[in-house]
Amino acid sequence: MYSLLKKCLFQIDPEVAHNLIINLMGKFPKTSEVFCQNNIGEDEKYKCFGKNMSWPFPIGLAAGLDKNSKAVSFLSKLYFGAIEVGTVTPLAQPGNPMPRLFRYPDEQNLRNQMGFNNNGMEEMRQNILGQNRNNKALGINLGKNKVTSSEEAWRDYQKSYTFLKDQADYIVVNVSSPNTPGLRDLQTSKGLEDILKSIVDVREKDDPALFVKVSPDLNLQDLDSIIDLVNDFNIQGLIATNTTIMPEYGTGGMSGKILFPKSKKIRSHILKRIENMNLDLIGVGGFSSFEEIYDFWREGGTFVQIYSSFIFQGPKILSDIKKGIDSKILEYKVSSFQEFLQKLR
Ligand code: FNR
Repeated sequence: MYSLLKKCLFQIDPEVAHNLIINLMGKFPKTSEVFCQNNIGEDEKYKCFGKNMSWPFPIGLAAGLDKNSKAVSFLSKLYFGAIEVGTVTPLAQPGNPMPRLFRYPDEQNLRNQMGFNNNGMEEMRQNILGQNRNNKALGINLGKNKVTSSEEAWRDYQKSYTFLKDQADYIVVNVSSPNTPGLRDLQTSKGLEDILKSIVDVREKDDPALFVKVSPDLNLQDLDSIIDLVNDFNIQGLIATNTTIMPEYGTGGMSGKILFPKSKKIRSHILKRIENMNLDLIGVGGFSSFEEIYDFWREGGTFVQIYSSFIFQGPKILSDIKKGIDSKILEYKVSSFQEFLQKLR
């Protein structure tokens, strides 16, 4: 079914196809049953626990696909354990000029220079309230408006955090998109410290878990400083990684298979370093097969997100991963994913 749909969609401009599908998913959430009949939201077998968070299934949808939270009811019916919506900014903004989304189907890569096009935090909140999460986790990914200076960036994050936090299971501070001028510099300047401090200042007991999403293009020294900062602020973890810059392809960020090695290097480094810290890692960037994800679990990871492989393989990648988990549960003679993870380590 998806291969037929993909054949048609890949004939048209990527962003037109994207918007068409998001609108259809939003209008007809029940059609997700064509791809997935049973909801695993309440099945204890696939539940996974980190140090600070749990998901009903270890694979989530990465940010950027459902920027305005229009299709959560549809997407959360699939074998996703979590849906991350956004990036959302306090004010609506149009993003960069089109064309700004490109496919490389033979290599299974995407390139985007969207620039946080989104309808703003107020519409985001309304949309979330109208959606069914099907017992899955909901993440909200926050960014700053283009017109906000780097020095004032913390105000945007604090504002949208306060406005949206009661709707989220986890919140993400995104300082790693390559498509907003100066945003990634916040990772290595005092900028990130200001942002985290401003959020920690308004955090209350029972607030959602808080994560910082990082770039694959960081050097390991800068990465270590971010890990230490996140740990010092008692934040719940990191998401690694966002897209990578490869000027030989053009401007914007590359995702998909080509990103995997760079992203894996960052993830492996984080996993080693946080072993004795109270931090979780959500691994994302180039995952396109069960084997790669199995490797990540073997290294100590738990939570995974996908985006590009979902575009190229459709919901089948999720049922393939579920089958892979089922076979590992049998092989390891355990009764749940979490027990399998424990045996693996
Ligand atoms: C993204 N990504 C992204 N990330 C983010 O934090 N905020 C965003 O708004 C977006 N937008 C976005 C748009 C498009 C078209 C793509 C392809 C990607 C990055 C995404 O969440 C993920 O980190 C990367 O795509 C790497 O994962 P994959 O695609 O290799 O599985």
